[in-house]
Amino acid sequence: MIRLFFLFILFIFNSCTWNELPEVICVPDEQIYLDLVRPIIESNCISCHSSADDSPAVLVTYNEVIDAINNHSLREEVVSRRMPIDEYTPLSSSEINIIKNWIDCE
Ligand code: HEC
Repeated sequence: MIRLFFLFILFIFNSCTWNELPEVICVPDEQIYLDLVRPIIESNCISCHSSADDSPAVLVTYNEVIDAINNHSLREEVVSRRMPIDEYTPLSSSEINIIKNWIDCE
């Protein structure tokens, strides 16, 4: 019985903090990255983003892409179509959506 009560308190506590969070922080899924996101990055970004010598963001591994999302505004670069730069073939709308939905955990 005490254990149940404790669980109940825990539940209330969790639901409160959940509501108070300014935004839900999510971790983009690694399997979706491997299946859907990495192929897009490999064909459209890696040529310029495979080493720190050439560009501010390295996008070879899952962790590097997550780092670029957190520290190099990757989501904004993609959604605003600033990347890929210049005359490089732009991403299609569906490719942009895949990346955006993945980052937003949708
Ligand atoms: C033709 C080369 C090239 C391609 C292709 C390219 N980028 Fe970039 N990218 C750059 C360069 C150069 C910079 C640094 C200068 C700048 O921000 O304009 C950069 C900067 C960035 C940054 C860091 C921006 C910041 O403010 O720190 C991100 C994130 C990024 N690119 C993501 C991508 C993604 C995602 C793709 C593929 C969809 C991509 N890039 C394709 C050359 C490229």
